Amino acid sequence: MAKDFSTMELSNGSSNTSIHQVSDPAKRQTLQLAAWLGLLGSLSPLAAQAKASRIGFKAMPIGMGDFIELPADYVATVLAPWGEPVGIAGNMPAYKPDASNTAQEQAVQMGMHHDGLVFFPLQGSATHGLLVNNHEYIDEGLLFPDGFEPMTAEKVLKAQNAHGISVIEVKLDNKGWQMVRPSKWARRITANTPMTLSGPAAGHALLRTAADATGTRVLGTLGNCASSMTPWGTYLSGEENWANYFATGDKPSAHHKRWGLRPKSYSQWEPHDQRFNAEQHPNEPNRFGWIVEVDPMDPSSTPIKRTAIGRGAHEGAWVGQTKSGRAVVYSGEDARFEYIYKFVSRDKIQAGGAAANRDLLDHGTLYVARFDADGTGAWLPLVHGQGPLTAANGFADQGEVLVKARQASDALGATKMDRPEWLTIDTASGWVYCTLTNNSQRGEPGKPGVDAANPRVNNSMGQIIRWQDAGDFDGLHFKWNHLLLAGDPANARPEAKGNIQGDIFGCPDGITFGPGGLLWIETDVHSSQMRQGEFERIGNNQLLACDVTTGEVRRFLTGPTNCEITGLSFTPDGTTMFLNIQHPGESPSDRSDPKETAKYSNWPDYVDETRPRSATVAVRKKNGGVIGL
Ligand code: FEO
Ligand code: CA
Ligand code: CA
Ligand code: CA
Repeated sequence: MAKDFSTMELSNGSSNTSIHQVSDPAKRQTLQLAAWLGLLGSLSPLAAQAKASRIGFKAMPIGMGDFIELPADYVATVLAPWGEPVGIAGNMPAYKPDASNTAQEQAVQMGMHHDGLVFFPLQGSATHGLLVNNHEYIDEGLLFPDGFEPMTAEKVLKAQNAHGISVIEVKLDNKGWQMVRPSKWARRITANTPMTLSGPAAGHALLRTAADATGTRVLGTLGNCASSMTPWGTYLSGEENWANYFATGDKPSAHHKRWGLRPKSYSQWEPHDQRFNAEQHPNEPNRFGWIVEVDPMDPSSTPIKRTAIGRGAHEGAWVGQTKSGRAVVYSGEDARFEYIYKFVSRDKIQAGGAAANRDLLDHGTLYVARFDADGTGAWLPLVHGQGPLTAANGFADQGEVLVKARQASDALGATKMDRPEWLTIDTASGWVYCTLTNNSQRGEPGKPGVDAANPRVNNSMGQIIRWQDAGDFDGLHFKWNHLLLAGDPANARPEAKGNIQGDIFGCPDGITFGPGGLLWIETDVHSSQMRQGEFERIGNNQLLACDVTTGEVRRFLTGPTNCEITGLSFTPDGTTMFLNIQHPGESPSDRSDPKETAKYSNWPDYVDETRPRSATVAVRKKNGGVIGL
């Protein structure tokens, strides 16, 4: 019988970490809250003391085991693993560890492979809110009792229902964070949920299909990777590896090839769900790769794919706000040699939440980044009729520029990056940070060589780049540098040596500013490389904090075997950190065999012969203090 995994405590221990040098608890609490609210500059002399040492936890060693490790004065609880019913009244089927839940049951349970997540407070609460999770992809070896093959119509439907987004209600009580079930907000969005396409490409001929002659209605979202909250209280989700779901047949078009579509899909849905046969339905792939906006506060709302932000293998999108009140949406494509974008809204953000800003992301200008060797850069407009973006060059109108944003960026000579993953914005300074996770093909014959922003051939370790736009977030030029190059300085290969000040890591992926302005960095070293070769001394994937005023990096948490650490969000008071453990026990090859996978991990259930499960983890300080300080 399945255990109740609505929550489970993971870690305990004796205290070993000082918050910082302030001994009086009342003063410390004041300082923590002030730091979180960005008021440190007005507090003196406590402010100066805090600035000298903003990281307040004791560094953890590298992780080598199948569990979460974090400083002894912190505690982590597991919340909402794959298969847990989300809490729709009257429809809460229990998770079955033998993977025998049906497709219909999966449609009301947590999806697989949690990635981006955001905590939405209810009435500003730090103890009660909604958790919105992306379910990026699936491991068919774990999702089905009989593994990947043979694929059947029922298995395709279960696979589609394990993708998408989940909304759950959560509450903190004296046992930790719990799911509230049933909940009026509980919702699953899957690969079959009706959505609207909006913005300049909506209705375009390239978006029309046999099932949707209007080009404005699409079923579902796929490859939902990172996510964020907008200033008006909605959820933005990136559609990343959607190309894996489509099959082109033997003669792919140049357009399909440019977007990485293959003759046979990775997912093998096309024999059972024809719209994934891109030979018969060549425009269906054009309806994926967008930023999806969801209003989690309204369970009946229709998710909207925002075409004005451009199409890509989008990791996610993050919104800054200019002094004049415009939204600036930064995004990137996690694919080798692809691009970094920003969208500047035409209109200003209005008070009044989601309803008042319903069309905000439909009107504005999209730009792509060029990083120049002298430490400056330019945002190049993706505007039809400007420069090479003309009908003569294959761009009939603005809709085509947006659907073919990669080809447009190629034409503009934008900088081909080392797989841009997450972005985060330091609102105080205006610097925007982006992880470039790795690029093993940099410098290979026939591939782009190094440039100033992507300076290492066979870049196994990745780097973090940052820029500051001139004047404001809508500036058309910027200055840039690297926060750091990741990697172990002991590595023999020069390109695998990092310059990190502090604890070492490779393959940065998630990145988020948190309480007191600490920059949190999550890693995603692939399981085929983890703890081997150049990664031997780096250990399991991990979460670290960086004080960007000193450059110091300190390891905070390490994850179970072969997991990735991702999804990072805080309660408004900074006393709870939510993160995701994705694909614990991931097979170094493609798909898992449950018996084989148990050798790597059976987190978080720790029952033999069961399936490891992605899950959210809530981290709190035992004294209730602010995380990290
Ligand atoms: Fe889904 Fe690029 O990580
Ligand atoms: Ca990622
Ligand atoms: Ca990654
Ligand atoms: Ca991942």
